[in-house]
Amino acid sequence: MSSPTDDENKKETVFLDTTLRPSRWDEYVGQRGIKENLRILLRAAKERNHPPEHILFYGPPGLGKTTLAHLVAHEVGAQIKTTSGPAVEKVGDLASILTNLTPGDILFIDEIHRLNKLIEEVLYPAMESGSLDIIIGKGPSARTIQLELPPFTLLAATTRVALLSSPLRSRFSGGTFRLEYYSEAEIEEIVKRSAKILGAELGEGAAKEIAKRSRFTPRMANYLLKRCRDFAQVHKRPVDKETVREALRLLEIDELGLAATDRAILATVIEKFGGGPVGLGTIAASTGEEEGTIEEVVEPYLLQLGLIERTSRGRTATAAAYAHLGFELPADRQEKLI
Ligand SMILES: Nc1ncnc2c1ncn2[C@@H]1O[C@H](COP(=O)(O)OP(=O)(O)OP(=O)(O)O)[C@@H](O)[C@H]1O
Ligand SMILES: [Mg+2]
Repeated sequence: MSSPTDDENKKETVFLDTTLRPSRWDEYVGQRGIKENLRILLRAAKERNHPPEHILFYGPPGLGKTTLAHLVAHEVGAQIKTTSGPAVEKVGDLASILTNLTPGDILFIDEIHRLNKLIEEVLYPAMESGSLDIIIGKGPSARTIQLELPPFTLLAATTRVALLSSPLRSRFSGGTFRLEYYSEAEIEEIVKRSAKILGAELGEGAAKEIAKRSRFTPRMANYLLKRCRDFAQVHKRPVDKETVREALRLLEIDELGLAATDRAILATVIEKFGGGPVGLGTIAASTGEEEGTIEEVVEPYLLQLGLIERTSRGRTATAAAYAHLGFELPADRQEKLI
């Protein structure tokens, strides 16, 4: 799939993420509900002269969770220390991160769903009462000592909130915020801003054309913009609507923003499994895609477009999916699906 999730594109994604990341609230497009709530939370904390309470952001990749974490830190004038679920391997790693915080710091844990359960338990008292319980020794002589931690705020992000244990979820006393997909108009605004930063002059309708195929996702929009700009540069053409269409055709991204992988997954559900219901594991096995990628990246978008439905028995392709891929809807599904 030609998307920012490919390994070869990782470096570029990081580059684009950091270059194009909004550094002020007014540059952060959309997610109004979240911004409003955060503003109140942060102001209240400031007035009380205390670090804000712990906050969890969740939602599909590329919607702006990390960006929000940085904006929060900037707003409260705090230092942000970043780590991630898989990076914290041992209890000692977390203990060392926590004890090295200075008062008022923001600790950002990305991919928190990948935090080991044992480590999670160390986090509970740290989040709740600002202390760290350390067990020294083993067996009958083991004893617990309690370390006072400096006041801090934990910001965490995850693409898979369902994997978080409920004790952990309940400790985000500042709030748990779900990032929504962006509207086409919001993505268009983001594309225009990014084009300015990248020094690309967009022709009439070009930003809209990119926005339409960006999976309602800022990171994808920036990635496609960059691809279109490269295409225009090599062919010595302006970045106009027609150039965008051709560049995206070359990337095999269709007018709904589906890449080859998405179409292959949909086609598998339709052709191999009679339109479903079929389980995620089975889809993964027959397409060679990772189950996690399907669940985190592919499925939410297909659901959002109404191309699949999630039932208790598995995933089903909708009539719109049949139509989009040019398959005829079998007679026995017509009643059920229309
Ligand atoms: N609301 C927004 N306005 C403008 N640009 C945005 C917005 N949200 C995200 N972006 C752009 O998209 C890029 C990706 O955002 P970010 O890294 O914050 O996503 P994420 O949700 O943390 O993704 P992941 O789950 O993969 O970590 C940012 O660098 C920024 O350029
Ligand atoms: Mg992130």
